[in-house]
Amino acid sequence: MSRILLFTGKGGVGKTTAAAATAVLAARAGLKTLVVSTDTAHSLADTLGVTAGSEPGEVAPGLYLHQVDTQRALERQWGELRDYTRGLFTELGLDEVTAEEITVLPGAEEVIALLELREHARGGLWDVMVVDCAPTAETLRLLALPEALDWHVNRLLPAGRRLLRTLAPLIRRVARVSVPEDRVVGAGERLHRGLLEVRELLTGPGAAVRLVLTPEAVVLAEARRTLTSLSLYGYRVDAVIANRVFPAGGADPWRRRWVRAQAGHLAEIERSFAPLPLHTVPYLDAEPVGPDALAAVGRAMYGEADPFAPPTAAPPLRVTPEGELLLALPLAERGEVNLARKGDELIVDVGSWRRVLALPAALARRPVRDAVLREGFLQVRFESGGSDD
Ligand SMILES: Nc1ncnc2c1ncn2[C@@H]1O[C@H](COP(=O)(O)OP(=O)(O)OP(=O)(O)O)[C@@H](O)[C@H]1O
Ligand SMILES: [Mg+2]
Repeated sequence: MSRILLFTGKGGVGKTTAAAATAVLAARAGLKTLVVSTDTAHSLADTLGVTAGSEPGEVAPGLYLHQVDTQRALERQWGELRDYTRGLFTELGLDEVTAEEITVLPGAEEVIALLELREHARGGLWDVMVVDCAPTAETLRLLALPEALDWHVNRLLPAGRRLLRTLAPLIRRVARVSVPEDRVVGAGERLHRGLLEVRELLTGPGAAVRLVLTPEAVVLAEARRTLTSLSLYGYRVDAVIANRVFPAGGADPWRRRWVRAQAGHLAEIERSFAPLPLHTVPYLDAEPVGPDALAAVGRAMYGEADPFAPPTAAPPLRVTPEGELLLALPLAERGEVNLARKGDELIVDVGSWRRVLALPAALARRPVRDAVLREGFLQVRFESGGSDD
């Protein structure tokens, strides 16, 4: 089974380094490896010590780098949507520049890169695909949105489309703006479907997220929240990577204090994230750049563990044979979890995050009996009979 490994974490902690190191190890293990970058700063190419074009190119034996050119990908795949928004903006008297800015909305770049990833996955060419993600998994959470919209879109779109066609001339006269043509609506549907497919891929059995952090209080606090939210949205996290760990030793009091403080945080990380494996990378005396330095980082990081072993962790969401719904919510506090039922959907709020779960057919008509948060799992039980309302 081909594997998709996503690296995320707070800004600057070493995501790109960890992703590149993992990709180099994979290629050197003889696995056909693609590493995808979503960031326009080209730091993945810099880290690998290469200059990358916009097409996937082989940068070391068996290692291919795809630095996604988001503007081009957008033109190619979603040109209709782009033209439409551009036209609409102009009609509304907004600058052309604003229309261009649409494509640099937060997350847009990465979403486009992930859509490209889907093309690669379809090709079935790669044993391992490594993705250097944006900080704090913002985009991965964003991908849960189409899931929530799906239900509505599926139900509303066909009707909405008919309505739109009938009303178009009227809207045009009254509002003096263009109404999307079928072609644009079609592109919208295609985008929506694409997002669902990407999400399916990234939450699928071959995919896992690796959470990168440094042993510091602020970073740790954010990593804990990221773990909870990723799980809420159905992503499997399979390892935690602690980067920039000061090697012990030396008489310098400044260094001794750092070593002691980090040791405390590392113990806490181990406790917080158990049973996830914790891999550590020492703070090196130089930036690890180029395949050899990265391979050394990779070896230090994974030690004896096999970074590409088939995943064993259960998916975060499952229905037990007894008809209980189990949703892994590691590190969530009882007070921040809320549950609501709306028709055949279950709405789960954790702090400021919300997931709208379409219940499987077997549970959709059964009222919720009770729900508890226990040992990192939200456990929802349903009444045995169907409801009459
Ligand atoms: N263990 C380490 N020892 C020394 N330098 C490191 C180590 N890990 C990363 N670096 C260096 O720290 C810098 C930031 O690392 P990196 O680019 O991997 O972080 P990032 O999380 O991808 O950052 P961003 O959020 O900006 O994408 C780079 O210059 C990298 O070479
Ligand atoms: Mg980076």
